[in-house]
Amino acid sequence: MTMVDEEKKELVALLRNRIEERGGISFAEFMAQCLYHPDYGYYTTPRTRIGKEGDFFTSSSVHFLFGRLISRQLTQMWQLLGKGEFIIAEQGAGEGHLCLDILNALAEDAPDFYQQLQYRIVEISPDHRQGQEGNLQRHVDAGRVGWCSLDELQGMQGCFLSNELVDAFPVHLVDKDDGELKEVFVVNSDEGFVEEGRPLTNPAIRDYFKLVGHGLLEGNRGEVNLQALDWMSSVGKVLARGFVLTIDYGYPAEELYAPFRRNGTLLCYHKHQSNENPYQRLGCQDITAHIDFTALQKVGERNGLESLYFGEQYRFLMGLGFLEALIELQACATNPQQAQALRMTLKNLVMPDGGMGDSFKVLVQGKGVGVPELLCARKIQDIRLATGIF
Ligand SMILES: C[S@@+](CC[C@H](N)C(=O)[O-])C[C@H]1O[C@@H](n2cnc3c(N)ncnc32)[C@H](O)[C@@H]1O
Repeated sequence: MTMVDEEKKELVALLRNRIEERGGISFAEFMAQCLYHPDYGYYTTPRTRIGKEGDFFTSSSVHFLFGRLISRQLTQMWQLLGKGEFIIAEQGAGEGHLCLDILNALAEDAPDFYQQLQYRIVEISPDHRQGQEGNLQRHVDAGRVGWCSLDELQGMQGCFLSNELVDAFPVHLVDKDDGELKEVFVVNSDEGFVEEGRPLTNPAIRDYFKLVGHGLLEGNRGEVNLQALDWMSSVGKVLARGFVLTIDYGYPAEELYAPFRRNGTLLCYHKHQSNENPYQRLGCQDITAHIDFTALQKVGERNGLESLYFGEQYRFLMGLGFLEALIELQACATNPQQAQALRMTLKNLVMPDGGMGDSFKVLVQGKGVGVPELLCARKIQDIRLATGIF
């Protein structure tokens, strides 16, 4: 099968019928079906999505150090909340690598915390859930891990965590055309699916731009992630006390909707190649958009969440001890080739200039916790390395 042949024919037929019946569907609905249709969606059906054999890497699939460093931040959060019962909730856990690396690190480095915590996973994909169950058996057997819905976390105390969840939510596409905002709808044509700009009928889209205080420049396209707003507000509501730690690629609104970004940020991933065509390989390629951290912060504030930290992933990881850990791990390498391979792998987590280190950002919000000095906020100039290392 060639790459272009790879698509779910049933999904194509189903979408064609739905569009025919309704005279067009919003791009957000189209994307939701491509990613999450229960029988044919990219995320819901069996496939290797993450890692070398899949379509894309995530930080947790790069190296266990990512989860280990986050475990240090979680340990401090547990201390700040008084070292009592603590829930780590992770939504969208993929193959469970982040959970595994966090729990492995805590079992070793912070056994008291490990004994007190419950790790709860909220996962939409039955396929990913199966992978998680397989990878996390040891910690399930130890009574630490379980699965639940977001609503079941009502009243939780602890930290609500996600890595690359929000970029996987379906987005509305909006064009600024002749001074008007137009929403992109998908319609049928002899050539396949095509786009049609229609006057806004969904008032939530206009409200969204008011909320974030930035709009689109004439001729530009942007994505509006309404599901992210609902999600943030639900997370704020279920959290009784504690933290929300959100890691994803994205920008503050001012940068996301900057004049130079003419076509928005929508991208598709298939076997480690990106493309800008969501109308091919239906159900067989990932579709994502960069997220708007301003929107998360504003909706968070309305739901009792105060922003405590916002920064690039490289700063966050450096604050948590990335360099010191790299030096320690390197010292365990048995030969120079192994040490170099380790450095090359870990470099991916902190690479600037469009790499994971700066395209990924980290937002930490707090509720009922005051304004603590978080470990991740340690400044790079305050990092003290033993002399004679390099
Ligand atoms: C890009 S993957 C990230 C996986 C993982 N966090 C990692 O770092 O490898 C997105 C994950 O979010 C899940 N997901 C997407 N929408 C979701 C939702 N509404 N509720 C729960 N999980 C969701 C997907 O099934 C998948 O596990």
